[in-house]
Amino acid sequence: MDVWILESAHAVAVKAADICGELIQRKPDARLGLATGATPQALYAELIRRNRQDHLSFAHVETFNLDEYLGIGPDHPQSFHRAMRDSLFAEVDIDPANTHLLRGDSSDPVAEARAYEALIKRRGGIDLQILGIGRNGHIGFNEPGSSLGSRTRVKTLARATLRDNQLGHPDFEEPIMAITMGIGTILDARALVVLATGAAKAKAVAAALEGPLAAICPASAIQLHPDATVVLDPEAAADLRLTDYYELVDQARRRLPRTSGRI
Ligand code: GLP
Repeated sequence: MDVWILESAHAVAVKAADICGELIQRKPDARLGLATGATPQALYAELIRRNRQDHLSFAHVETFNLDEYLGIGPDHPQSFHRAMRDSLFAEVDIDPANTHLLRGDSSDPVAEARAYEALIKRRGGIDLQILGIGRNGHIGFNEPGSSLGSRTRVKTLARATLRDNQLGHPDFEEPIMAITMGIGTILDARALVVLATGAAKAKAVAAALEGPLAAICPASAIQLHPDATVVLDPEAAADLRLTDYYELVDQARRRLPRTSGRI
């Protein structure tokens, strides 16, 4: 695991945009796995800025989103479809036909989940998956107790998630189920970039990075991935025990030429 503890939430977004940008430069038809929620919003804003000012093109990029609420359609104001359109897709030169999201309004969610798995495979797999972490340690909507080998499927949301997601939308009756890529699906991505900012994430981050590998903290599954980069602000990193070591790694990194890769 490559752990970066940066000075601010803005620095986290810039680092994540650097990783996405380098991939897209190297592979213009990269397949990105995307997440919703508050955390990646600053990353998407930075990618939009680079699209406009630095000519980072999404013309051949293909995207796969992690999850969607069950029972709501792509135009519903609280759908993840809508959130992605508003926060990224409508603002960059991506071809909407290359943006894939699970349909929450599918009449057969089980078939929808299976078809999504098949689509990811058919397209050659995800090159880089962006992930946030729920306060209860979820990734996507893989709630505590999820199988670490799970594939895309319907999940019931945890009470903590229902509470967290309702905060900003007091008038919206949140769906209690979702369709989500499984943890096994996420681990199949060639690289993972996990973002967490703010004190509310500190416990989940510590459990994910340094706790036991266990279904009680689905994000701990990232420990199994050979190419996972975790980018944190100081608040989200506050409960980590190995901070001293991560700082040492950072010092060592600075001595290496950029091309030397992971250490
Ligand atoms: C949401 C999403 C996750 C997201 C997480 C954290 O419900 N399903 O993909 O990473 O919860 O969200 P936030 O970044 O808003 O804290």
